[in-house]
Amino acid sequence: MARAELKSGALRGDALLEFLLSVPYLDRDRWLDELFGFDEPPADIENLPRGAVPYLPSGVDEILAMVAEVPLRPDDEFVDLGSGLGRVVILAHLLSGARACGVELQEPLVRRAKERCAGLALPRVSFVHANVADAELDGSVFFLYSPFNGEMLSAVLRRLEDVARRRPIVICAVDLELHGVPWLRARKTTKVTLALYDSCVHGIPGR
Ligand SMILES: C[S@@+](CC[C@H](N)C(=O)[O-])C[C@H]1O[C@@H](n2cnc3c(N)ncnc32)[C@H](O)[C@@H]1O
Repeated sequence: MARAELKSGALRGDALLEFLLSVPYLDRDRWLDELFGFDEPPADIENLPRGAVPYLPSGVDEILAMVAEVPLRPDDEFVDLGSGLGRVVILAHLLSGARACGVELQEPLVRRAKERCAGLALPRVSFVHANVADAELDGSVFFLYSPFNGEMLSAVLRRLEDVARRRPIVICAVDLELHGVPWLRARKTTKVTLALYDSCVHGIPGR
């Protein structure tokens, strides 16, 4: 029944949130995968570039906290850097109405994410097959579930700083600390695994 409501457009925003919260905590991830029609992800490709982290989905509760605490709004442009099967992108859009885009290096994951989306008819959701290092980056809220580290992370942060020179942005980081980045200000969150940072670039007022 929930799947039919999701397809018809009835299960969105607060209705979807209420539904997810009614599922016992330990079952939420499995329920969401069933709701979205996600099956086992394909194996990671063999030649992941240096510093790239293999696919592992964010937990539903981190995503719910992120959407509530940013807070994500219908006029936001949300980007998941290293989006995997698209769990974060799709759920963030369904809960908030924000335009949402995933950038993912592994083509089999992108293909699956697009297939799942096609079944749901979500015109404000898109997936790009690209290395984040080469993709054009723009948006108001960026999400990173520890997708890469080392020089790749430093390079992407420099590019996000360029975005922040044009507009205020929020960076949401799961299992990833961005301390010591001078143009980011950390906020308190309700989850130890979730960190939120506001851009603070001279001359650009915060969000
Ligand atoms: C830990 S998973 C997170 C998946 C998703 N964001 C989520 O939270 O459910 C990290 C993802 O980042 C992708 N990735 C790693 N390096 C990347 C890069 N340079 N460009 C694009 N995607 C990348 C991996 O293929 C993997 O799917």
